[in-house]
Amino acid sequence: MSFASIPKTELHLHLEGAAPPAFIAGLAREKGVDLGGIFNADGSYKYQGFDHFLKVYEAACTVLTSPEDFRRLTLAVLEESAANGVIYGETFLSPDFCGKGDLGAWREYLAAITEAASEAEARDGVTLKGVVTCIRHFGPEQARTAARCAAETMGDFIVGFGIGGDEMAGKLGDFAYSFDMAREAGLHLTAHAGEWGGPESVRDAVNDLGVARVGHGVRSIEDPAWVEELARRGVHLEICPGSNISLGVFPDWPLHPINTFYERGVSLSISTDDPPFFHTTLAGEYERLAETFDWDEAVFRDINIMAMKAAFCDDATRAAKLETLGEKT
Ligand code: ADE
Ligand code: ZN
Repeated sequence: MSFASIPKTELHLHLEGAAPPAFIAGLAREKGVDLGGIFNADGSYKYQGFDHFLKVYEAACTVLTSPEDFRRLTLAVLEESAANGVIYGETFLSPDFCGKGDLGAWREYLAAITEAASEAEARDGVTLKGVVTCIRHFGPEQARTAARCAAETMGDFIVGFGIGGDEMAGKLGDFAYSFDMAREAGLHLTAHAGEWGGPESVRDAVNDLGVARVGHGVRSIEDPAWVEELARRGVHLEICPGSNISLGVFPDWPLHPINTFYERGVSLSISTDDPPFFHTTLAGEYERLAETFDWDEAVFRDINIMAMKAAFCDDATRAAKLETLGEKT
């Protein structure tokens, strides 16, 4: 099986987290910024554990200071997506890193990112949509600023709102105001939950914030009745197996619960989260899943159809991409 050539939908990719370390190191050099010890001798990102990962991630973001930086980043990320067979992707992006929450600046960053997305779509046929993400450990006040930016710029490109960052910081309910604002603006909703928190964290995301999708959600596996409910209610899990294994949520591929979720009828998709941080690619994830769980092309097709049905895009885009996957609507 050629894993790169399987047509793919990727719903969980952080734009800054997809920045190759050489790209960040290059910007740091251009700008004369010393990023300290965030790289290993071989040039890869250097961190130990999730909290440190978040710090290194935020340090890397400090050199992404202009719309032009994000235009170049988006082009580089989409080139990699296309090389991995992605036909439709959604990316998380944060006003906190694009103009520090200023709405005027955010619009300029967004213009640069959408320009790059259009160029990549014309070149490679890969369609990208944006999901504005607030950062949990930056607190509910800053999240409102992000939600306002999202609501003001919702449209053809910005289609969703979500939350990432430290799942152990604060309560999800504290972010309800931001999620309500986003929902009222017509945005689709997702939240990182059940990566570090247990099934109750996923329940909070679904019941308190009303999200249709959950980023990770994998620790739901600890409560079989809740897994059944996820399947019954059609809640979609954006699963990133390589990220989970790299960060130590599960010790190794055979112990990852993705196959159990699949067998129990939970709607799910496969993504890379922050691929250079986890030494992974989307095609690489497919290869490991095929090896580990004996998944064949029919399983991957089924999963990509589930992903496309859970995508936050308009119906015309969804229908066109489903057709590419050989699914009639
Ligand atoms: N931001 C980037 N990657 C993340 C992850 N795996 N969990 C939470 N927030 C993130
Ligand atoms: Zn994530």
